[in-house]
Amino acid sequence: MIIKNILLEKEKEEIVSYWDKYTNKKKDHQAKGTLAARQVSFLSTYHNRIKLILEKETGFRLSEQFNAIRLYKKGDKLEKHIDNAAPFAITIVVKQSDLKHNPLVFYFDNPQTIILQEGDGYYFKGMEIPHERLEVQSDYLLHIYFGYNIHDKLI
Ligand SMILES: [Fe+2]
Repeated sequence: MIIKNILLEKEKEEIVSYWDKYTNKKKDHQAKGTLAARQVSFLSTYHNRIKLILEKETGFRLSEQFNAIRLYKKGDKLEKHIDNAAPFAITIVVKQSDLKHNPLVFYFDNPQTIILQEGDGYYFKGMEIPHERLEVQSDYLLHIYFGYNIHDKLI
């Protein structure tokens, strides 16, 4: 499900600024050509705040499990896969160079193509639903991934 503007304007700017200064960016093995970082401490505040939103939205009790940030360039893509880092996930666009559409595909019984704009997130069960990012159309796209464990239902 999409949550529009899950990141505040100020948070987007902060994350971009942290990323720009971050010195431990790695060439990513999961999406060829991209730069990424995993389990980065500067994301923990946002990981936690968004957990609270997702708990309200889904009724699940969640705990932070894994985070990542990745910079895609035009033409980069993420092959179809299921996650192994966490059962529940949200993918959020922090920043993209323009308003072009950069599709994500989620393989439910009827595959769904999702377009997110800056600040929007899409949450899903990443270990159950295969998903992919098609070739990025924008010159660049900075994205974060927050993974959570699901515990018992709140209600
Ligand atoms: Fe994934």
